[in-house]
Amino acid sequence: MKADFKIRRITHAGICVMLQICWLLPHSSTAQPVQTKGLKDYYKNYFPIGVAVSAQDLKDPREAALIISQFNSLTPENSMKMGPIHPEENRYNWKDADSIVAFAQAHGLRVRGHNLCWHEQTPKWMFKDENGNQVSKAVLLKRLKDHITAVVSRYKGKIYAWDVVNEAIDDDSTKFLRNSLWYRICGEDFIIKAFQYAHEADPNAVLFYNDYNTERPQKRERVYRLLKQLVDAGVPINAVGIQAHWSIYEPGQKELEETIRKFSSLGLKVQITELDISIYPWEKSRRSMRPGESDAYTPELEKKQADKYAEVFKIFRRYKSVITGVTFWNISDKHTWLDEYPVTGRKNYPLLFDQNLQPKKAYWQVVDFK
Ligand code: GLA
Repeated sequence: MKADFKIRRITHAGICVMLQICWLLPHSSTAQPVQTKGLKDYYKNYFPIGVAVSAQDLKDPREAALIISQFNSLTPENSMKMGPIHPEENRYNWKDADSIVAFAQAHGLRVRGHNLCWHEQTPKWMFKDENGNQVSKAVLLKRLKDHITAVVSRYKGKIYAWDVVNEAIDDDSTKFLRNSLWYRICGEDFIIKAFQYAHEADPNAVLFYNDYNTERPQKRERVYRLLKQLVDAGVPINAVGIQAHWSIYEPGQKELEETIRKFSSLGLKVQITELDISIYPWEKSRRSMRPGESDAYTPELEKKQADKYAEVFKIFRRYKSVITGVTFWNISDKHTWLDEYPVTGRKNYPLLFDQNLQPKKAYWQVVDFK
């Protein structure tokens, strides 16, 4: 794999000599590794490799260069969510979303839209009338339709896929749909309608249901039940997003394979939409760091993480006939949403690039197809 590195050595005469095989050379202070092949190139016969970004990330020349060299798909991390893009009923805020789409177009990257309907990051006005009372189902569905039509139409032909409904299944395994305001006001119709509105706005867009912990059997079964209902009812859903906010402890190979098999048995394509591998066990409730608790990224944790990345990518490659994309959630360990979440004061290291944007051990495992 290291053959894909080029070494730039500056001689006394100031001439740069490019060599393909860096491990034959001693690493002197003048040796600067320049990576010539990115994740997207290693995976060109498999699936596109994406990354979630902010408009701000793309303004940083080092991050922009890394994105262009490694990835061929972008997901706006937050800027297309309902709250940021549609903060008031009669006002859309297109700036950041537009700049991400423009960057993608300029550099030949595809874009996944994220997301059209979710219980979080939704503006309060959506559910209230002018007197502050909860709106009726008819009003809420009209607002949902207006929102989806405006956003999907704006990027028609530039965004190839949309996460239409995000996380509608309850965390409580004894329940089915999440008791969100969407559900309380509209019942399950909001899900069906969201897909119909998106399909009407862009009949060519690939439409996704997207959720987390889908490898855990109790969640997998309920997500499957929802997907099957939608497919059986002829709702225009094409694919399912496995978010993949994982850790070095889970999922197990069998659980992951079973999820991919089960979802794709419905005729749906599968994408890994928000991949990161935390070095900590999964937790959902917010808390502070405990006395003596460490957030050191030890060599042991780094190795466990590299092994987990190797394991899941091996499975992704095996299922390339149904997996149509793998997207990482953030660029590098310099910044990840898992810093401080859910544990205040705790750093995480869940990605393939370190805080200096250099490939980690896990990166080299992911591109090693043995
Ligand atoms: C969910 C959402 C993402 C993002 C992550 C955490 O997975 O789908 O948009 O907000 O949570 O950052």
